[in-house]
Amino acid sequence: LYPGPVEVGGIRLRNHLLLAAGILGTTGASLARILASGAGGVVTKSIGPSPKEGHPGPCLIVVDGGIINAMGLPNPSAAFTEELAALQGEPVVVSIFGGTPEEFRTVAGWFAGRASGLELNLSCPHAEGYGAAIGSDPALVEECTRAAASYGVPTWVKLTPNVANIGEIGAAAERGGATAVVAVNTVKAMRISTALRRPVLGNRFGGLSGKAIFPVAVRCVYDLYEACSIPVIGCGGISTADNVVELMMAGASAVEIGSAVIDDIDVFSAIAKDLYGPDGVDAQEIVGCAHA
Ligand code: DOR
Repeated sequence: LYPGPVEVGGIRLRNHLLLAAGILGTTGASLARILASGAGGVVTKSIGPSPKEGHPGPCLIVVDGGIINAMGLPNPSAAFTEELAALQGEPVVVSIFGGTPEEFRTVAGWFAGRASGLELNLSCPHAEGYGAAIGSDPALVEECTRAAASYGVPTWVKLTPNVANIGEIGAAAERGGATAVVAVNTVKAMRISTALRRPVLGNRFGGLSGKAIFPVAVRCVYDLYEACSIPVIGCGGISTADNVVELMMAGASAVEIGSAVIDDIDVFSAIAKDLYGPDGVDAQEIVGCAHA
């Protein structure tokens, strides 16, 4: 069923389908469950320089075509290393965030060597001082990437779609030493309760994920494939093998799946069956073919 090892951005995966950061990624047990369900690799919930509670609720709402979350990067910080103990040797990527290059260097140091690699979160759309605040400035992206990549471990950089020119940001990550770019994190969004006349989310703004943002992911992957020479990993609204094929044609060497896991925890084996089964495609052969 599975194609066997696939190497992307310095990390050896079991197939092209990874769990995206933020979904079921807070414990070693939930990550192991997703690996057992057929994922080729998993990305953890983002871990930062100090323990963080997250935003006041409501922090997650379901909308047409997806979900808007404003979790606010809740995480246990360095204590998360304990969750990795039982996952040694598994294809686990630790998502990290910080507010400065120094913080990225510190957090990267905790996890370098304890996992297959790192994914820098430079793209949360609603966390003051973190995420997209850094990820929309090419100079800061380059500096933060260089700081985290200084340990010499595979370092992926996850980008925000909420910028004018994502190619320019990807190129900055590549200059800083990224081994792959991941596109995209959530699209900044909000809803207002017409009954209550106020924003629904406690934080007012959040990030939209799910099927509604799939075309945004296709466009961003297409742009990054033109702008970068490191691999591009697609993420955003994937729920079928055909979505995976489309993102690969745009230029994705692998993909990350998040929101669809909430509807079906076994979505990885379902997609793998269609992608690699008798009527499946040669994944490697189609990467970037839409650019011809
Ligand atoms: O939509 C998001 N929500 N993206 C992130 O990067 C972080 C997450 C959160 O914790 O708020």
